This record gives sequence, C-alpha cells and structure tokens, in this order.
Amino acid sequence: MLEQKQIDQLSTIINKYQKQKGALIPLLQEAQRIFNYLPMDALSMIGKGLKIPLSNIYGVVTFYSAFHLTPHGKYSITACRGTGCQVKGGKKILHTIKETIGINEGETTDDLMFSLDTVSCLGACALAPVMVINKDYFGKMTAEKVKTIIGQYRAG
Ligand code: FES
Repeated sequence: MLEQKQIDQLSTIINKYQKQKGALIPLLQEAQRIFNYLPMDALSMIGKGLKIPLSNIYGVVTFYSAFHLTPHGKYSITACRGTGCQVKGGKKILHTIKETIGINEGETTDDLMFSLDTVSCLGACALAPVMVINKDYFGKMTAEKVKTIIGQYRAG
C-alpha cells in the first residue's frame, strides 16, 4: 500500500509530466526516488496519468536495469565483476561487501538500508577495484576501505 504522502508526491510528478512527450522514463526515475523502487500501484497511477497501458510501462521498467520492481535499499551498492577490477582484487571486495552487509548480489537487507548488485564494468577501470554507492564512486578499494565506507553510510 502506498502512503498518502507518497501518493501526493507521485500525483504532483505525474501532473508535471502529463503533457510532455517522452515523459515516461524521467517520470519513472522520479517515482523511483520516492519509493526506492517502483510498486505496481505507482505504475498503475502513472499509466492512468499518462494514458499509457500498464503492459507498456511494465515493458520499459523490466527493460532497464536501473528500475526495480521490488523494494530496494536506501543505498544501492554496485560492485564490479569486470576483468580490470578482478585482477586488482575485485573478488575480495565483493566478498567483503557481502560479508559486511550480510546479503548476496540481487538482494536487499531487511532494514531496506542496502541493496547489492554487480555489473561487468563501472567505466572507471583506472580506479580498479571499484565500488559505487548510489552515484558515488569509490576507487582503489581494499577490504578495510569497504568496511569503513559502509560503516559511514550505515551511521548516516
Ligand atoms: S572492470 Fe571494473 S570498472 Fe571497469
């Protein structure tokens, strides 16, 4: 169930984009910022607001990996599985992240604080091994740095 405050926020965004062409993706991005994922009820509201069939919206959401249909953590951690990072200890970095937050890739912690995903390159190979939290890049990672940085996010 969506909270009233979230419904109001979403309605405001839908009104903002209602008459714009190509509004769906930016609208979905803003909606995801409200919920940290895209609940089906929110997609229904967006479909009605933009007069787009829900099946089309669902197609877009499932096509782009940046969109999530299940609850996602406040902090989205992405670790790199690319060769550039693996040769510089990326495997250990991923292992340390998993150990520190207690989940595997593709999962979200029960308190909805962290999610963990992996990608084949984060486009910053010179900084290998790399970890990203939301939009912040952390390079030349070590196991110790992983623990410290995650601890800082946990503390807010
Ligand atoms: S291989 Fe990891 S950032 Fe490119």
